[in-house]
Amino acid sequence: MERSTTDVLVLGAGIAGLSAALAADEAGADVTLATKARRPEEASTWWAQGGIAITRDDPEQFEQDILEASAGTADEDAIEVLVENAAETVRDVLVDTVGIEFDTNGDGFDYGQEAAHDEPRILHVNAETGKHIHVPFLNYVADETDVTILEDTAALELIRHEGRVHGAILEHDDEWAPTFAGSTVLATGGIGALYPRSTNPPSATGDGIAMAALAGADVDDMEYVQFHPTACHTESGTFLISEAVRGEGGILRNGEVPEVEDSGARETSSPGGERFMPDYHRDAELAPRDIVARAVTTERELTGEVTLDVSAFDFETEFPDLASKCEQHDVDWTTGIPIAPAQHFLCGGIVVDEWGRTTLDKLYAVGECSRTGVHGANRLASTSLLEGLVWGQRAGADAAGKPIETIEPPELLERDPDLPATFAKDKFRRLRRVMDEMVGIERTPSGLKRAQGVLRRLKGEVDAYVRTRTSRSLYELRSASIVSLLISRAAAENEQSVGCHYLVEEGETTPTPESAKQ
Ligand code: SIN
Repeated sequence: MERSTTDVLVLGAGIAGLSAALAADEAGADVTLATKARRPEEASTWWAQGGIAITRDDPEQFEQDILEASAGTADEDAIEVLVENAAETVRDVLVDTVGIEFDTNGDGFDYGQEAAHDEPRILHVNAETGKHIHVPFLNYVADETDVTILEDTAALELIRHEGRVHGAILEHDDEWAPTFAGSTVLATGGIGALYPRSTNPPSATGDGIAMAALAGADVDDMEYVQFHPTACHTESGTFLISEAVRGEGGILRNGEVPEVEDSGARETSSPGGERFMPDYHRDAELAPRDIVARAVTTERELTGEVTLDVSAFDFETEFPDLASKCEQHDVDWTTGIPIAPAQHFLCGGIVVDEWGRTTLDKLYAVGECSRTGVHGANRLASTSLLEGLVWGQRAGADAAGKPIETIEPPELLERDPDLPATFAKDKFRRLRRVMDEMVGIERTPSGLKRAQGVLRRLKGEVDAYVRTRTSRSLYELRSASIVSLLISRAAAENEQSVGCHYLVEEGETTPTPESAKQ
């Protein structure tokens, strides 16, 4: 790798990174976008299903829905920025510039309905919207702009001096070199790799958050890790069953076999057991995500299983991609799709303002690694692609035009070929077990304390290796251990259950229908 300079260095190539790169390029900056991904599938955007919510006739109701889903904790100014810019940015960038063809019906866009939205307002392409946005957007930036894209290139450290960031040390093929930049935009995505079951790609190791925290940037709301209620776990992997399926009429059923009143015979009209969500929330299957995720957890504990009954509509016609995914994983959706929650999204992250500016000079953060305040303690469905797109545009435009200063970069040590191949794998396994058992969908104060102890020791072991060796997997493990500690510490400090942060006493279970009813 060669030492280089660029006006704007964007780290990450999901929707937020692409949006920032495009805006900076349009503002006349020389832009370098580095992504550790080798294929589009390695960005979380590619994995997104439901879609992208936009403002229709009633922006205030959209704002209200975001605020309510967050249990009143989201930042109202940030919500306003999102909602005010939603329709226009989607139209300008995705429809008019990139040429994405969202699904339509006879009346125009075929707006989808998802949980906690007051009206259908989700633009989608089947239920695999992420990849239908990501691939053309990536191709557009690669072919139609002057942005230089470096694939399979990871950022290991930020180059910083006295509260100002001057670029990053990049690694490719076990070689590394500094790239100095007028501005650096972190768009490194989420943290799914910290949990054993996640809807994110395995590359989601929290690198941007860890690098920013190490450089001294503020991070916040880290305890708010969102679990998606309906993931399908099979031996061949975990995959998401979009909330859009519940929006279309999918019903959650537990393992309790209902009896037909007069004959006592099994109900045969629909697959699976009893419908339970109306007992937990007035919006039943379309209640806010955190409530559905905990109800599914409880019902699985109480009755053994939860399935998603899709018999009320033509699943194969409405969700062809999901039907074929079920088939690939040997899941017979006609008898109900077995589901359980899985880690899905981090609502908190690197603190930014309405232009994506972090608390460090010349450092920006956009997309899932950032904390704009839009999500508070719980994110409303189909607002993450939108947030990445809107903040990407704003940060990219703001980041252009800053002078490049070259300073002495941090020194990294030569790679030691003796790094045990299994070291990172073994430590990751331990880290995921701790996060799953003690920092998962429900948490106890004592579990959080224990988790911090184990994670601190683990981070110490990783730090000792980082002092003597450099490899991408070691740096990813370091990122994961730093971010796990940030999450468990924030969770331990927050004594109030709210949104995705749910505390129980030792030995207590998740809410029963009675305790959760609202
Ligand atoms: C889904 O399709 O259910 C996920 C959408 C989202 O996470 O916003």
